[in-house]
Amino acid sequence: MAHLLHHFKALSSFFFFLFYIYHNTAMATLNFKAIKANCATTKYTENSTFSTNLNSLLSTLKAKSTSSLSTNQTSGEAPATVFGLYFCTGDLSQDNCQACIQTAIKDIIDSCPTSKQAIIWYDYCELRYSDVNFFGVPDTNGFSMINVNENTTSSRPEEVVSQLVQEAPLAQPLMFKSQAFISESLYALAQCSSDLSSKGCGDCLTTIMANIKACCTSAKGWRFLAPSCWIRYEATPFLQNLNGTSTSITQSYCSSNDFPASNGLNATAQLESLLSSLTEQAPAFNGFYNTSEGEGMNKIYGLALCRGDLQNKKDDCQSCLKDASKSIVEDCPNKAQATEWYEKCFVRYSNQNFFGMVDTDGVRTLCGVEKFSAEASNATLNLALRLINDAVNDQMFVGAGKVVISDSLTSYVLVQCTRDLSKEGCRQCLQSGVNKVSSECNQTNGWRYLSGSCTLRFEVNPFFDTALIPTQIGL
Ligand SMILES: *[C@@H]1O[C@H](CO)[C@@H](O)[C@H](O)[C@H]1NC(C)=O
Ligand SMILES: *[C@@H]1O[C@H](CO)[C@@H](O)[C@H](O)[C@H]1NC(C)=O
Ligand SMILES: *[C@@H]1O[C@H](CO)[C@@H](O)[C@H](O)[C@H]1NC(C)=O
Ligand SMILES: *[C@@H]1O[C@H](CO)[C@@H](O)[C@H](O)[C@H]1NC(C)=O
Ligand SMILES: *[C@@H]1O[C@H](CO)[C@@H](O)[C@H](O)[C@H]1NC(C)=O
Ligand SMILES: *[C@@H]1O[C@H](CO)[C@@H](O)[C@H](O)[C@H]1NC(C)=O
Ligand SMILES: *[C@@H]1O[C@H](CO)[C@@H](O)[C@H](O)[C@H]1NC(C)=O
Ligand SMILES: *[C@@H]1O[C@H](CO)[C@@H](O)[C@H](O)[C@H]1NC(C)=O
Repeated sequence: MAHLLHHFKALSSFFFFLFYIYHNTAMATLNFKAIKANCATTKYTENSTFSTNLNSLLSTLKAKSTSSLSTNQTSGEAPATVFGLYFCTGDLSQDNCQACIQTAIKDIIDSCPTSKQAIIWYDYCELRYSDVNFFGVPDTNGFSMINVNENTTSSRPEEVVSQLVQEAPLAQPLMFKSQAFISESLYALAQCSSDLSSKGCGDCLTTIMANIKACCTSAKGWRFLAPSCWIRYEATPFLQNLNGTSTSITQSYCSSNDFPASNGLNATAQLESLLSSLTEQAPAFNGFYNTSEGEGMNKIYGLALCRGDLQNKKDDCQSCLKDASKSIVEDCPNKAQATEWYEKCFVRYSNQNFFGMVDTDGVRTLCGVEKFSAEASNATLNLALRLINDAVNDQMFVGAGKVVISDSLTSYVLVQCTRDLSKEGCRQCLQSGVNKVSSECNQTNGWRYLSGSCTLRFEVNPFFDTALIPTQIGL
């Protein structure tokens, strides 16, 4: 990870800055080292009502951090009311959020002793309190950070973050949106604090986006952290839930061999025609279509599959296939075989007839980053095994289910095959997938198996339309 230079700009005169390095040894995985703390120079007296109210606010926030990624709270009566909030980036697990907030609660007292107002920023969370009611007011008085080691001329990061700036205000309740384009090395997020309205969030993000454009977009990695909202772009993965539902993945498999150069065949034109026919037809046939293009030696075979819960969402299916078709030719230029997986669909083509055969070439396994208990992991794999039976007996070759692990934890699993396969082929493909994730993803809180013939996915969030789930299976 590149080193980041801190630019301090647009600072409120109300605050002075304390910039320090705090070494936290408690957490194994994430680095909970404060980036910065803003402390008001106005002070409260120890053992005052304000002081009691602040302590009570901080314990409320601490308690909330076991179950919530973002909250705003008050404590005490006027004139000694304390207003406070925290938020963790929406990609964080609850455990990591809790760890970040607990660290922040300790640090904010040490960093800003007896300050009436304070804010502390980390890579993954922010904590803030004040004697003045700031709820609902977009505060953009933050700071930018850039990667000083590398520049970029690409406008993609700016485009992607601008899109997130539009989407995050509408993404209730967290007002968090992220994107991961692994093949482009582009990871980004936008988020607001919970006290803002959607409109306030939009105003806040738009302002800090303009700040970033004015200073920093030539850097390959930048962020702007304001008290009320954040944006961040990196060329290296920083999102904690990369394999999870809050990020969109795209993955491609390309064969090593190119289309053979032959008698006047324009493989590009033929492929474009195949892809456009798949994109056109699959939504009309419950999200699956297979077809071929050309004749004899020049024939190309292709299929397209939309996620099982998109059967009746033709537009979503089509727009996903459109994107995937565009990417597959960009990611695998002139390759004779390729598969491109998106969140909600995938497309595959080959110059060999592969219909009815289980794909073993372009397969991959993705594992989550957080750990899961052995029991929960086992329950999830057992669910996946049961869903194989559901899928092979379903006309659409889809199996979806959930298993309730505890009050606050549920596993969601979706398995699906392409419909050119036989029942036996489908079973074989899904079984290989379960074998792969159980051997490669050691008790992780999410996994995916991507093949050109079937997909399996597990998340602790409902990543598909849960109206699909036929049964609830308790642990
Ligand atoms: C605040 O109260 C604690 C214990 O109640 C006491 O030890 C401390 O001296 C008090 N501080 C001030 C500034 O009065
Ligand atoms: C959080 O902020 C909103 C408005 O900004 C406010 O209406 C709400 O009461 C606050 N929540 C709490 C628990 O104080
Ligand atoms: C990046 O570009 C800035 C000017 O926009 C320049 O000052 C800086 O030296 C460049 N950094 C690198 C690592 O090339
Ligand atoms: C092949 O077709 C593509 C897309 O239709 C076109 O852009 C390209 O120029 C063609 N190539 C040749 C060699 O004709
Ligand atoms: C998923 O997580 C694993 C483990 O951290 C990582 O190796 C893999 O690259 C991730 N997948 C994606 C698509 O980022
Ligand atoms: C996991 O499940 C298998 C049966 O599917 C069982 O034999 C094993 O003991 C279970 N392990 C744990 C840790 O629950
Ligand atoms: C689709 O695949 C099946 C094999 O499962 C094959 O019989 C059928 O001909 C294919 N459809 C087209 C249009 O090629
Ligand atoms: C799998 O993860 C568990 C829990 O973190 C650990 O105890 C175990 O040693 C791991 N097994 C392997 C084979 O890595």
